Amino acid sequence: MDTPVNPETRFLHAVEMGVGTWQWGDRVVWNYGHNYDEDAIRAAFNASLEQGVRLFDTAEVYGNGQSERILGTLIKETNQPVLVATKFMPFPWRLERKSLLRALKNSLDRLGLESVDLYQMHWPFPPISIEKWMSVMAEAVQQGWTRTVGVSNYSHTQMMRAYAALERRGLPLASNQVEYNLLNREIEKNGLLRRCQELGIRVIAYSPLAMGLLTGKYGPENPPPGLRGRKYAGLLRRLKPLINLMTEIGREHESKSCAQVALNWCICKGTLPIPGAKNAEQALMNAGALGWRLSEEEIARLDSASESVVRSAS
Ligand SMILES: NC(=O)c1ccc[n+]([C@@H]2O[C@H](COP(=O)([O-])OP(=O)(O)OC[C@H]3O[C@@H](n4cnc5c(N)ncnc54)[C@H](OP(=O)(O)O)[C@@H]3O)[C@@H](O)[C@H]2O)c1
Repeated sequence: MDTPVNPETRFLHAVEMGVGTWQWGDRVVWNYGHNYDEDAIRAAFNASLEQGVRLFDTAEVYGNGQSERILGTLIKETNQPVLVATKFMPFPWRLERKSLLRALKNSLDRLGLESVDLYQMHWPFPPISIEKWMSVMAEAVQQGWTRTVGVSNYSHTQMMRAYAALERRGLPLASNQVEYNLLNREIEKNGLLRRCQELGIRVIAYSPLAMGLLTGKYGPENPPPGLRGRKYAGLLRRLKPLINLMTEIGREHESKSCAQVALNWCICKGTLPIPGAKNAEQALMNAGALGWRLSEEEIARLDSASESVVRSAS
């Protein structure tokens, strides 16, 4: 499909993959400071840049600002060009336009930047309307504090409201960041992916490794720790056939890993995956998802295996 891409958002369509940085400072879900630290993250950051992966996705709420702070420190240490996407959380007590502009200024301070490349509305939470938030997002662009505007976790209807509100101000909606991976293909089924492709809205795929499950390193006997283990308890027991197929397909591509197959599948579907990486090894492995492509036939086999796993778990 020929996607009509707006010149202002073209840079995002040129990016095949980014790095998720929720892990960078978050203790609650990811256990930052326990089995990885700032040095490990520095190594992940540098390894990503060396491999040409230079889009970093963060948010004001990750580690309560810590992710943006760490990313800011690392950006200062490099001469390499970096693209930064961050997010605004519309907490219910944030009722004024000033709250978004202030939050963005605070994010910029933590990042040590004058402007970010993409500012995203993290969730479509009430009470403030989508139209009102988009009008403040447009102000942020006018101020020069963000290059483009995106949304996250927006349904088809919510996204179209954001798209229309920005269009009235002469701005494109750059992206919708949603969960998408071989274990969650909701956006294929509900038409969101197709609509984004028709309108030139970049789909940024979060949790592209299903929070680590699609690397093949977890199973019912060794579930991921904490929240993740609970979230995926049902799927973990049924994952094996899919992991076996990913391993088999990876082998046919010069021994690509399950993680690399999972990320390449996201790219082949026309999305921009942003796998989280805690260290250089993970960042390097994830970058190995670039520079090759699964065949149509392999994608169809993966689609069918993922369907079976999800159906049997529900
Ligand atoms: N907009 C939103 O609402 C939203 C929600 C969630 C995430 N996100 C964004 O999306 C990014 C990615 O999603 P995610 O962090 O939820 O999950 P993910 O990318 O699917 O999984 C990341 C985790 O998988 C493991 N891992 C990564 N690469 C690996 C490799 N090569 N080999 C082995 N293990 C590997 C690591 O955890 P372990 O080593 O501990 O297993 C890592 O923390 C986040 O960082 C964030 O930027 C956005």
